Amino acid sequence: MRLDPESAIPPREPESLPTSRLRLIEPLTHVEMPSFEDEVRAGLKDRPRSLPCRFFYDEVGSKIFEEICDLDEYYLTRVERSILVSRAMDIARAVPFGSSLVELGSGSAEKTRLLIDALLARQGALRFVPIDISRSALVESSQALLLDHPTLDIVAICAEYDSGLAALDGAAHTPRLILWLGSSVGNLHKPQAADFLSRVRDKMGAKDRLLIGIDLRKERTVLERAYDDAQGVTARFNKNLLTRVNRELGGNFDLSGFRFRAHYDEVSGAVESSLVSLRDQEVDVAALSLQAAFSEGETIHTENSYKYSLDEIDTLAERSGMQSETRWLDDGERYSLNLFCPC
Ligand code: AVJ
Repeated sequence: MRLDPESAIPPREPESLPTSRLRLIEPLTHVEMPSFEDEVRAGLKDRPRSLPCRFFYDEVGSKIFEEICDLDEYYLTRVERSILVSRAMDIARAVPFGSSLVELGSGSAEKTRLLIDALLARQGALRFVPIDISRSALVESSQALLLDHPTLDIVAICAEYDSGLAALDGAAHTPRLILWLGSSVGNLHKPQAADFLSRVRDKMGAKDRLLIGIDLRKERTVLERAYDDAQGVTARFNKNLLTRVNRELGGNFDLSGFRFRAHYDEVSGAVESSLVSLRDQEVDVAALSLQAAFSEGETIHTENSYKYSLDEIDTLAERSGMQSETRWLDDGERYSLNLFCPC
């Protein structure tokens, strides 16, 4: 047998097993959120009727959301990634040396890799603390990250945002860079956005920073197309709420009896999504013993996606007890990454 020159090299030190660098925390104390059942009951009785967007993301809905992120019209994901690609090093240099990285709603953590790479390049080692309600997304993304990064260690928190934040002190030492990507803040009314960020602020020490992705105000046509795409993917995403009511609560929504609409309110800055009844119709929801009579044109509100001006972002920071320290935009000035510091 010919001796391969490679075989003369002694075997490498076994690296620490990726699993030994992963800890999963499932907080016992949960900040209670109203159940799907309760929200559907309340939302269908309300006028105008509504179904909350946090229920978009079951297994099917999460897949449809990934399809949305790949659409030409839905520029948000692509543009946010492009800012991270060009600015990750600047961001890493803008936070205190030795910062750990916390991420709200990390999901697949696909864009986060760019920042992890930059922070590792600067600091050599990094603690990453993803917070997500999906245990499977946490475990899968963590294992993939650990395999690629031998000096990374992960404390994954499986929880809703508020429960996750409550568990933060045991998971990551300050200084911390808290990441909230994707313009998810847009789902909150502007006063509620400030309330939530104030709670994040309460968890932050003087050296901690918040990096938050926020979509910007722009032309109506661009926004309405982003939220009502030509292929109808976003329409399917919204109608999945009706499918969930049918499957989980014994509803009999006829999906073809509703159309999807996205409307930009320039005054508030919200893209408002809703399902519109195409005719007079009755819907039963067995598990709620509820009958809902829809008239033609009646709407079910499903989501707000608020857009901000740069001044409104500064105001949001101030109302949250923070200050907008640095901001990075894409060349087209469509989207912003903002570094907030406590003050
Ligand atoms: C995940 C809340 C940021 O509002 O842009 C995408 C969700 N809804 N298309 C957004 C969504 C319709 C998205 N966020």
